[in-house]
Amino acid sequence: MKRVVFGCSGSESIECAIKIMRSYWDNRGLNKKKKIISFTESYHGTYYGGISAGGLERSCHDNIGPCLPEMQFINGSFQAHMCARCSFDCLNEVEELINREKELIAGIIIEPILASKGGIIPCTGFLRNLVRICKENDILVTMDEVATGFYRTGSDFYFRALEVSPDIVCLSKGINSGYLPLAATVVSERIVLGFTRSGQLLQHGSTQGGNLLACASMIASLEQYNQLSGEFIQKAPLFKSILNDALVGLDAVEYVYCAGFMFGIALVNKANDFDFSDILEIRKRLLYKGVIVYYSEIGLTLMPILTMEIEEWKKAVRVIADELCAWTKSNGAR
Ligand SMILES: Cc1ncc(COP(=O)(O)O)c(C=O)c1O
Repeated sequence: MKRVVFGCSGSESIECAIKIMRSYWDNRGLNKKKKIISFTESYHGTYYGGISAGGLERSCHDNIGPCLPEMQFINGSFQAHMCARCSFDCLNEVEELINREKELIAGIIIEPILASKGGIIPCTGFLRNLVRICKENDILVTMDEVATGFYRTGSDFYFRALEVSPDIVCLSKGINSGYLPLAATVVSERIVLGFTRSGQLLQHGSTQGGNLLACASMIASLEQYNQLSGEFIQKAPLFKSILNDALVGLDAVEYVYCAGFMFGIALVNKANDFDFSDILEIRKRLLYKGVIVYYSEIGLTLMPILTMEIEEWKKAVRVIADELCAWTKSNGAR
């Protein structure tokens, strides 16, 4: 990666990535390449670019539309364990789309783990081949690593674990652990050359983007990452086994997802039809007990701070397990 455009939020970084992908082709005279592909189940923030590319909660946009035109959604929730014998049939849909419309498609935005959908982890083979097909067909690849970047998934960036080379990477959150508003849209040499050769400037910049205070907090965080990366890599599997030991097999738990320090607990009380209001209620009860969790339509999402001690994690997991057991007991006969 060659250059960074600083901004103030993950949403701004997505906005910037969409502008880069569209203008890259426009600068080369290919002004029909405007379409942006993304996953039906993805979340890309709250600006118009992000809500237009975000597949989740599209129904909530009715009163704020119209969103950006030329957005195309594909299914991204193919999970390795869902295919009995993988033949990558899951790529048929996108291959057809790309063959049909590559002259119109500027790029794809990939949320590599569908965190807002509950931590769904798409099959790595699917993601790798998706990137390959896009690259072979002149479709720029943006990885939205706003949530997954900076060791959240156990490795520094998820695209590195996937062994793919995106053209653009969107970063925020972990860049400074959220202490100050900061985002980075990081671009490859290909993008830089596209702009410099055409003599065009990127039409993006925000007054506070890359301000000194936020950058100081980023540098301090990066130093910590460099020092502690070995510890994070060792700790992630321990966190996973602690969570699995405490939760797998409980009546309220359907299954547990895990990628590094990103956990999803799918809650299904088979006998009682767990619904969304139950999930919100459990989240509220956990909050009163001092454990802050996030939620999705399928259950709870946990994103512990990476420096959390093992003992603290055990304690938090115990509170969650106890709450889920108590929930099953009190709602079992509903
Ligand atoms: C994958 C992803 N992209 C983009 C965003 C938007 O980031 P921000 O809330 O900083 O605007 C988020 C935030 O949750 C996210 O998880």
